[in-house]
Parts: sequence; C-alpha cells; structure tokens
Amino acid sequence: MNVLVIGQNGREHALAVSYAKSKSVKKVIMTPGNGLTDFNSPKIKNYSTVAMMDFEAIIKVCKIEGIDLVDVGQDDIIAAGYVDKFERIGITAFGPTQKASQLEWDKKWARNFMVKYSLPIPKFKAFSSQKEAIDYVNKQADRLLFVKATGLAFGKGVIKATNKAEAIFAIEQMKNFGKSGGIFLIEEGLIGEEFSLFALCDGKNYQIISWAQDHKTIYDKDKGPNTGGVGSVAPAGVVTKKILKEVDRNILFPLMKGMQKEGRPYKGILYLGGMISKSGVKVIEFNARWGDPEAEVILPSIKTDYLKIAQSILSGKLRTLKIKIDNKVRVSVAGCSKGYPGDYSKVKDKEIIGLNKAMKLPGITVFGSSIERKGERFFVNGGRVFYIVGEGKNILDARKKAYRAMNLISIEGNNLHYRTDIGFRDVERMSSLRKQGSNYCIDSGSSSHR
Ligand code: AMP
Ligand code: GLY
Repeated sequence: MNVLVIGQNGREHALAVSYAKSKSVKKVIMTPGNGLTDFNSPKIKNYSTVAMMDFEAIIKVCKIEGIDLVDVGQDDIIAAGYVDKFERIGITAFGPTQKASQLEWDKKWARNFMVKYSLPIPKFKAFSSQKEAIDYVNKQADRLLFVKATGLAFGKGVIKATNKAEAIFAIEQMKNFGKSGGIFLIEEGLIGEEFSLFALCDGKNYQIISWAQDHKTIYDKDKGPNTGGVGSVAPAGVVTKKILKEVDRNILFPLMKGMQKEGRPYKGILYLGGMISKSGVKVIEFNARWGDPEAEVILPSIKTDYLKIAQSILSGKLRTLKIKIDNKVRVSVAGCSKGYPGDYSKVKDKEIIGLNKAMKLPGITVFGSSIERKGERFFVNGGRVFYIVGEGKNILDARKKAYRAMNLISIEGNNLHYRTDIGFRDVERMSSLRKQGSNYCIDSGSSSHR
C-alpha cells in the first residue's frame, strides 16, 4: 500500500512515521512535508512544492505515486471537504466528511447539536449583531466570559474576557475574523482543569484511545499569549477511570448516536477538548482530527498497525479491532523561534544546531514542523520549528529525557525559545501524592487505566 499524508507540521510528521511503521505500507508520500519528515526515513518522501490547498496538484501526486489511501488529518483541508472530494474521484480518504466535521468548523452548529443531544456544555448565546451582543453583556454582572468566532480562525478566534469592558472589546474584535467571525458566541467561562481526549470512530462504534494535556501559552506557568500549543503530555494524569466513564456515557455515546441521527455518521479521529469543572466534565470544543502537539505524544504509543486502524475505521469494523498502547509516558516540548507567537521574522532562515546529536539520544524522537533542510543542515522556517518527544516510565523520566535533548540544541544568534515546565501539573500531582505518603506514581500504568 502507498499512503499520502497531507500537511507539514509535527502532527503530520508523527502520522507519516506511524504509517511508515506498518509492514503493509511500501511508501509514505507527504505534500508538502518538512525538512525532517524525509530525513533518515527511507519510506517517507516529500513533494515539498505541493501546497496543502492545491488539490489538483495533490491528485497528480496520487496518480504518479499510485496512492491507495490518503490521510486527511489537518484542520483546514478537513473543513474544505477533502475527504468528500477524494471519494468523488475514487481515491480512498481517511478522515471525517465535511458534514461530520462541522463539529469543528462551525462552533454555533456544534453547540446547537450538543444542546439537542444533551451533552454537558457551558451556557452560551449566539450573535450576529455587535450591538445586540454588547447590550447582552451590559445587562450582566462582571464575570468570566469567552467570545468565540464561529468559524476557523487559525486558533485565534477565541477571546477570554474577565469583565464587561474586556468582553465588549472582544466582541469588537470579531469583525477582524471576516466570515469566520460574522456569527460569534458568548460563553460562560468554565473553571477547572483541561484535557484533550481522543477517540477512534467508525460511524457507529468508537474506542477511546488516549488522553493528553496541551500547553497553550508561550511562557512557563501558563503566562503570555496563546500559541498553537508548545508542549504536551500523554497520558494526562488528571483523566481518571471515573472521568473516562463520564466522558463515555455523557459525551461520546450521545455524540455518536446524534451524528448518526443527523445523517452525518462520524468516521475518523474525534478530539474532545474537555474541562473537569466542579459540576462534572464539560465540552469546551470538538475537533475533527488529532491535536497538535497531542499527536506527537500519542501516536508513538500505539502499537497496533496504524494502517490497520485506518482500514478498520473505513470499513466500519472498529468493534472487532484490539488496539494496543504501550506503557510509557511521553512529553513533547516545542522548539520555537524567539518572538513567536509575535514577530519572529528575524529568526527565519537561521541555522538550528545540535538536532542530529539530540535525535541520537535514547528515548528521544524529534518531529519537524517549520523546518528546512539543506544537505545535513537544518534551518528555521516559522514559529514552532520542531518538537522533542521524550519517553519514559513516568512523567519525571520522560521530561528529564526531553529537556536533556533540548539542552543540546540552539538556534543561531541565541534564537531558540522553549517552555521549561511542560508537564508541571502531573509533576505537582506526583509530588503531592508522594507527600501524602502514597506510592502512587503518575505513569502510564496507574494513570491510564487501560
Ligand atoms: P477553543 O478554540 O474552543 O479550544 O478555545 C481555546 C481555549 O479557550 C480552550 O482551550 C480553553 O482554554 C478556552 N476556552 C474556550 N471556551 C471556554 C469556556 N467556555 N470556558 C473556559 N475556557 C474556555
Ligand atoms: N492542541 C490544540 C489543537 O490541536 O487544536
């Protein structure tokens, strides 16, 4: 089998590696891939000039390379209906249809669906008029609110407001998101701990596969502006057996039934962004794909042939597939250009030093993102440049390995930035449990309940 993975970031690199591990896969093609995806990976080949949105050029690549399966796993192309488009021309594509992925690309539709099928969610109201939204906010007491553009907005369409003035300012920003912000939501702010949980779905059946925690802000202790995600941990210790049961019963079961009833059976990877609040688990959002950088810490833990997983989802036979996950904890740390998520233009094209050495350390995998290769040398091509993934028997071990590797890397001119506290919640949980005299250890054996 020949597989095509569309995309260029860490998530898509991790996906390509997962497919390449399958004995049934002869080659993995990436459009466009990045400077690390085809480095020392004999099965993976990049078409680096073929842009993700250039569907016609991608079809040509499918023909040249004899592609049997396309993995459509990136937000924009899922929303653009790539799965439907490939199927229309007779190419098998793995991912949700455009109608099923409305769960991600239309927050208003998604919230209304969740109301209809009684999923636990925060209170919300949808608006298309700025004036009506401002009147609504003015009638309320100061409290935590989230103002959200309904469409995709490069991860920037959600604005947190801690009082009325901030909420009004956020409402005024919605027009900057063009069509995506034409309709927007005002939501009650939930308080609690967040997690990302992933389920494989074949339209009818589903299996929870793993759960992670993302680190969104650029600086330690969750300070600074939000990014696309600069570090992750899996499995996340906050997700207990009790939480899993609650997610299963109150969220995934009604979701799968509801999507069937709506004539939009959900096939592919489902990502639940959840909040463990005082009144139980609530849905913050659904995404129709793997998270980035959650994929980098989950995909390597899957021991079952990934092509087999994709095929059993496509044929609606997920129920009979036994999926094996290893017992390790993984921590990913993003190596970023100094300045990201603000202006980092002066870092573009600077050389990355030490990657080769870091890649050779035991328990380390490096996934590329905005990175270019010239011969054996690597150069910066964007904000989140690469991800170091450390794997170990528990959070401390995995984290130690990831940072040992990161310490070997620099970007010319002292231009590398990374967070130094990825996984801090699980580290704190572990030390507080130890203080209480428990020998509980947040490792995959005790926290994952697999
Ligand atoms: P989203 O793009 O919907 O994932 O929102 C981005 C981030 O905003 C989430 O990861 C949460 O940290 C936060 N967020 C969104 N909606 C809410 C909410 N209703 N309550 C609390 N936090 C929220
Ligand atoms: N990690 C956040 C996302 O993939 O949307």
